[in-house]
Amino acid sequence: MSEFRIPFNKPSLVDNEIEYILQALRGGHASGDGPFTRKCHRLLEEALGVPKVLLTTSCTHALEMAALLLDIQPGEEVIVPSFTFVTTANAFVLRGARPVFIDIRPDTLNMDERLLEGLITPRTKAILPVHYAGVGCEMDAICEIADRYNVPIVEDNAHGLFAKYKNRWLGTFGALATLSFHETKNFICGEGGALLINDLQYVERAEIVREKGTNRSRFFRGQVDKYTWVDLGSSYLPSDILAAFLYAQLEAREQIQGKRRRVWEYYYEHLQDWAKDHDVRLPVVPAHCEQPYHMFYLLMPSLEQRQALIAHLKAQGILSVFHYLPLHLSDMGQKFGGKKGECPVTEDISDRLLRLPFYNDLSEADQACVVEAILNF
Ligand SMILES: Cc1ncc(COP(=O)(O)O)c(C=O)c1O
Repeated sequence: MSEFRIPFNKPSLVDNEIEYILQALRGGHASGDGPFTRKCHRLLEEALGVPKVLLTTSCTHALEMAALLLDIQPGEEVIVPSFTFVTTANAFVLRGARPVFIDIRPDTLNMDERLLEGLITPRTKAILPVHYAGVGCEMDAICEIADRYNVPIVEDNAHGLFAKYKNRWLGTFGALATLSFHETKNFICGEGGALLINDLQYVERAEIVREKGTNRSRFFRGQVDKYTWVDLGSSYLPSDILAAFLYAQLEAREQIQGKRRRVWEYYYEHLQDWAKDHDVRLPVVPAHCEQPYHMFYLLMPSLEQRQALIAHLKAQGILSVFHYLPLHLSDMGQKFGGKKGECPVTEDISDRLLRLPFYNDLSEADQACVVEAILNF
């Protein structure tokens, strides 16, 4: 049991998870790429209009697959926000890449597209926009620059499944994109992810990379009469038991997004005036972005105030948390030359951001307690 009356996150069930898991087990196919994996693939492909989707064991592993598919070589560069989760960069560093850290916009906390062109060199092999909180990066500008320099985009869309930028689904802009189904995300299976493949040239190798470097997928389709080791790879496919759980969640996507929308709007409505009076900023969602209601954060006026509010909420049994520490200032980031002052917006925001409890089944009564505790701060 959590020591907190209101935790930061709580995995929520919809309806059919257990029934589908039983079906997966009774059907006799518990390993990867069984019937439920195929159902998830089809559902995501049809819902997003993505030509090929492959479930993976995590978003991290989908990013590692992307680095293998782009054939990243030692010394090549990838442009990645400093304000992101470790694995957006690490997946490429595993292949020998050097991360080139880009600062974020102060409004959406996404990659600042105005800085992008200045960071491109002949060694740049990928641009990695992260749609923070599922609010779309400025993809018009990012795609234009990527096209002009002929550099592929890999969208890290861990937060933004079923969100849109200018009426187009996030995850459909890059040659490749990734999703997360970790328990803190909108749709979960404990640990899980997906690779979205928009550029068909990567499909065949993606199947190989995901199946330990073998052509097993072609074998199962009857396209070759035995399967063998043909390329680099690893085991990136989840068991069909996890896919069964995930399918139940994806089927209930309207119900889940409806609940999360209510939670987000309640916070926004009840904290708006307090925020204005106390120099606190609430999330910014530009009119051309449809957000997925993934998280709700406050930008406090200072680090001291952020820490004080976390402690104040903790004393009342409410868990609020900060988020990414600047990657360029991490131990690994400094090995790549990261220095204080290099991404000033990231450094500032990282100190001041606080995330409030947010999960599908967060009741209005519990939310009212969180709001009241904040108003009393
Ligand atoms: C932006 C971003 N990318 C990648 C990940 C990693 O996701 P996973 O836990 O599915 O590997 C996270 C995790 O929260 C994330 O926030």
